[in-house]
Amino acid sequence: MNNEATSLPDRVPYHLAIIMDGNGRWARARGMPRLAGHRAGVENLRRILRASSEFGIKILTIYAFSTENWGRPEAEVRGLMNILEAVIDRELGQLHANGVQLRHIGELEGLSPILQRKVRQAIELTRNNDQLILNVAFNYGGRQELIQAFRRIIADGVPPEQIDETLIDYYLYTAGQPDPDMVVRTGGEMRLSNFLLWQASYAEYYSTPVFWPDFDREELLKAIAQFARRERRYGLVPQT
Ligand code: IPE
Ligand code: IPE
Ligand code: MG
Repeated sequence: MNNEATSLPDRVPYHLAIIMDGNGRWARARGMPRLAGHRAGVENLRRILRASSEFGIKILTIYAFSTENWGRPEAEVRGLMNILEAVIDRELGQLHANGVQLRHIGELEGLSPILQRKVRQAIELTRNNDQLILNVAFNYGGRQELIQAFRRIIADGVPPEQIDETLIDYYLYTAGQPDPDMVVRTGGEMRLSNFLLWQASYAEYYSTPVFWPDFDREELLKAIAQFARRERRYGLVPQT
């Protein structure tokens, strides 16, 4: 492996989104059950949260459970729900103490009533924190997000000529937040898997074969170094 990028570049994404993929393969490579990979993934999240704060990232959006992930074996789905509940029980105090503002993006309906209540309480407790916003995408789908937006726009009786990008932004789960500057995907796949379809239209995309439980501070630095070297043209001609 090369050892570039061990110092922090001067341009850092304000909003970083991560597709935390590869937990299952990480576990399989160690002869462990998939859920052990998901638990290792949670441990890693703690490291990446700390590093993100350290690097000055202000919004971190993590893809934890997609609308498509319901189709996995029941035991894995149940395990993932239990992990979310355990994380809230165990980590909320520390997150709050660290000034993390927790938010949920996705549909809460569909989760168990207990889990819904815990998520709502965590959001309420941390709502005034301003060190870092952590958007947890759980039961999230980009298409579902657009469907619920269109439904509410119509239900609100918005006249067609008032529909523009700003208005649609307002109806998304991420209302009020700037779009992600970079989307990082661990685990090597080169696809969005229904993540932030609207918001990521001009995000810089970065894919690494490193599985999520192994994606540490150094790996995050490499991704940020890439980001700092990218020229974001937004469809215009290169700067001279
Ligand atoms: C990502 O890891 C976590 C979730 C989708 C919940 P995976 O479980 O998809 O791990 P792989 O891709 O099978 O290795
Ligand atoms: C994307 O990973 C969803 C999350 C990381 C939560 P998947 O493993 O579900 O995506 P695919 O199946 O490889 O597209
Ligand atoms: Mg996967």
